[in-house]
Amino acid sequence: MCGIVGYLGNREAYPIVISGLQRLEYRGYDSAGIVLNNDNETNLYKAKGKVATLKKIAENKNTKGKLGLGHTRWATHGIPNDINSHPHFSNSGNLVIVHNGIIENYNTIKKELSARGYTFNSDTDTEVLINLIEEVKLKNNCKLGKAVQLALTNVVGAYAIAVFDIQKPDEIIVARLGSPIAIGIGEDNKEFFVASDASPFIEYTKDAVYLDEEELAIIKLGKNIRIRKIQDDSFVEPNIQELKLNLEQIEKGGFDHFMLKEIHEQPNAILDTYRGRLLADKGIIKMGSVDNHIAKFLNAKRIVIVACGTSWHAGLVAEYLFEDLARIPVEVEYASEFRYRNPIINKDDIVIAISQSGETADTLAAIKLAKSKGAFVFGVCNVVGSSIARETDTGAYTHAGPEIGVASTKAFTTQITVLALMALKLGNLKGELSNSEHYNFIQEMSLIPSKVEDLLKINTEIEKIAAIYKDAPNCLYLGRGYNFPVALEGALKLKEISYIHAEGYPAAEMKHGPIALIDESMPVVVIATKKGHYEKVVSNIQEIKSRNGKIIAIVTKGDTVVKEIADHVIEIPETEEAFTPLLTTIPLQLLSYHIAVMRGCNVDQPRNLAKSVTVE
Ligand code: F6R
Repeated sequence: MCGIVGYLGNREAYPIVISGLQRLEYRGYDSAGIVLNNDNETNLYKAKGKVATLKKIAENKNTKGKLGLGHTRWATHGIPNDINSHPHFSNSGNLVIVHNGIIENYNTIKKELSARGYTFNSDTDTEVLINLIEEVKLKNNCKLGKAVQLALTNVVGAYAIAVFDIQKPDEIIVARLGSPIAIGIGEDNKEFFVASDASPFIEYTKDAVYLDEEELAIIKLGKNIRIRKIQDDSFVEPNIQELKLNLEQIEKGGFDHFMLKEIHEQPNAILDTYRGRLLADKGIIKMGSVDNHIAKFLNAKRIVIVACGTSWHAGLVAEYLFEDLARIPVEVEYASEFRYRNPIINKDDIVIAISQSGETADTLAAIKLAKSKGAFVFGVCNVVGSSIARETDTGAYTHAGPEIGVASTKAFTTQITVLALMALKLGNLKGELSNSEHYNFIQEMSLIPSKVEDLLKINTEIEKIAAIYKDAPNCLYLGRGYNFPVALEGALKLKEISYIHAEGYPAAEMKHGPIALIDESMPVVVIATKKGHYEKVVSNIQEIKSRNGKIIAIVTKGDTVVKEIADHVIEIPETEEAFTPLLTTIPLQLLSYHIAVMRGCNVDQPRNLAKSVTVE
């Protein structure tokens, strides 16, 4: 978590760094800071709170300087306050750092440095790291790049850092292990940008280098970037990529919040996900990364899915898809549990890692573990060039476009889309789905974007329901089969953005405990689509009604039975049962969104959360 932005060139750094930090606030937003260097003067401004607070503080101060580093924080070591905010200086006041990640052995290093006379103002691991760099630099009488490299060989943990020496304001050193860092290159190396992702500099340059794990880059004005491997000191040729991102994609485009924009982007996002893969007229599914390893997939004895949060919910939907359509056994694991429990992985297993950001620390560690046990790992990621995309053996991008709202929306539906394509393709090749069944599924999938588009028209209807339940202290979500994971996802969306306690359950499990919670003040959202255990779910609804619970039911268009019993019904268009999660999710996203807005919550940046969880 945490966002880093840096600028070195011939423009004023302040506006670039500040607006860059605002774009990276999704990564953390409990405090922010900026350091600016102007000839011989260096100014530091830091503040608890959002970048807007920092901006207010810096506004009337000296913000001149062609070199700047900024940081937006998600606290790990030390509470969010002004002192713990980055940037941090070394004891001499010469070296300055911004850091994203955790230095696990910081306490040991701190003790050693303290014994040598170093003092510390903050509680952060970052201040320890910059002093370690200083100590190494002085001891070895070496250049900053070398000192950073040597210091990092003594560090256990994860980092993306940017460092400069106020005595040499034509150079920034950046390095990464476990947290992302991108470098934007201006024309003729006259200016450089550094950031946790490329969004802070897309209007300035399209040329970018993404550092790989354990790489360090020396960025010097007027020179080509030099990249070294931290551990073995070898040089790496910079891989300059052309950025495909544009400004429009990272702006709100007339919506009040990124989350609402991203909910509405789903028809196009799903279309973009299957574009070039789902060839409806030919009735085929083309996926290079699956086709190139088809024997592995067809011979797989088992698929193990690893993911966290919403991506884990998409994995649960995939369990139904792969087992139902392709008859491949699936296990879905929380990456954070999988990585620590010595899992049994066989060589015929395929591990699928799902991650929007491609940077989630636990998922990345689970991948590394699975690979070390000889597994073939397939990634489903949204962010191109992300750590997980690079660490997996192969994979498929979701092509959902940047997701900036902290609560995942389009990432979820596009992950399901990719996984559904894979399940359909494998089901057909394995002979579990006849050609005509396969063909029909493909035709139906091609209609999903327009069905989602239709569904989005219920926005006002959902707003009315939200107004009724916005003050509920608890909420229960129930679903069965394909829609059990959707119930979990609906509950997660509500709790994370509105802070209402919510739980998702398989509908039949209600009798085994949660039914005790039901009374007249308890809203229960039930997914009761026509296909898939419909009658059973209707019985569950009756059970809730007889205990005076309030029912918000998601039903298939034209349903009359549930309409009679439920307090509110939200209709979704008819589709294949396997594709219902792509539709039933939409009203649940909107319901959470409206409730959160009505409760005055910060929908795009809920408290205590960050978009990409790069710490354990
Ligand atoms: C919930 C949410 C999180 C993420 C989780 C995994 O709305 O966004 O639960 O799904 O942190 O993140 P990725 O998919 O980036 O690995």
